[in-house]
Amino acid sequence: MLVTLSRHIIDQQRKFPQTSGKFIELLLQIAMAAKMVAYEVRKASILDVLGALGKATPTLEDSQKLDTFARQTFVKALEPSGLLCVMWYEEAENVIHISPQFPTGPYVLNFDPLDGASNIDVNVSVGSIFSIHRQLSKGEKGNDKDCLQPGRKQVCAGYIIYSTSTMLVYTAGSGVYGFTLHPGIGEFILTHPEMKFPQVKKNRNIFSVNVGNYPYWEALTKRYVDAVMHPTAKNQKIYKYRYTGSLVADFHRNLLQGGLFLYPADYKKDPKKLDAKLHLLVEASPLALIAEQAGGKASTGSENILDVQPVSLNQRTPLVIGSKEDVEHYENFIRENARTLFSFPKE
Ligand code: AHG
Ligand code: MN
Ligand code: MN
Repeated sequence: MLVTLSRHIIDQQRKFPQTSGKFIELLLQIAMAAKMVAYEVRKASILDVLGALGKATPTLEDSQKLDTFARQTFVKALEPSGLLCVMWYEEAENVIHISPQFPTGPYVLNFDPLDGASNIDVNVSVGSIFSIHRQLSKGEKGNDKDCLQPGRKQVCAGYIIYSTSTMLVYTAGSGVYGFTLHPGIGEFILTHPEMKFPQVKKNRNIFSVNVGNYPYWEALTKRYVDAVMHPTAKNQKIYKYRYTGSLVADFHRNLLQGGLFLYPADYKKDPKKLDAKLHLLVEASPLALIAEQAGGKASTGSENILDVQPVSLNQRTPLVIGSKEDVEHYENFIRENARTLFSFPKE
């Protein structure tokens, strides 16, 4: 049976009649923006081919242009819709209010327009991530408080991966569904119903971390990665190692194959201060909801990502995300080793 995204959402609404028609519209507008971005990303890849023929090649500037295009496309598709009271996108200093000429609505949208943008010039998959909350504030115009809600309060979260095919994966809190864009008819077709991290398989799951950051990690992280990469015990899990540097692509692969993605805090920027890289609002939180709905988990290392109360828009967080067993193994390792690494010798 061929089920399009719109068909699927209407069916879901029948199952959960409390879902409003506005919510359906919101998802469809996001899907429409995603199709336009997918088309532009594809054009960037063809430039790459032309580049090989000595005509033009995508540069860093092109990837920034594409980031701007993606951002503007999502804003243009959503702002006039009457569905949102406020928006925020990655790196913006302030929330984005709805222009007074447009009606407002009950939802709040946080998004990462182009994730992994630096990978455009080398033709590696990129993505977009979105996170939807209900308005908390009173009045028509939303504010910072609406955007700064813990992940647990999301009513919907999803991502689009622009790759060999374009896929949209979302959860509205009752399972994870994946759709593949049919390039001929321009419709998202349900190809991955009820997505779940696969059972842990010995030697088959994935471990993803940027090991180039090794010199900048704290001792505990180094100890954990050393232990994973140099197994000593007979029954220790052996992973396949994969890392692209596009969070959406790394997460998507691990969702399909099982395993762990890790982006710990490090001393790269400042040797005296631990900094995290990934954004809580538009990277960690939405993927955490998807992970949980797919039977997985996301953690800062010591706390469930979905329980973190954001205090600022551009807040960063360490992220450990993937199959539940693997994330919990990481958390236990850190807890147990913190005791031995930092406990003072008895006198
Ligand atoms: P963005 O392109 O939205 O700024 O995000 C880039 C992020 C994320 O996609 C990825 O996981 C991470 O940066 C990769 O960072 P490193 O290159 O430091 O590994
Ligand atoms: Mn990103
Ligand atoms: Mn981005």
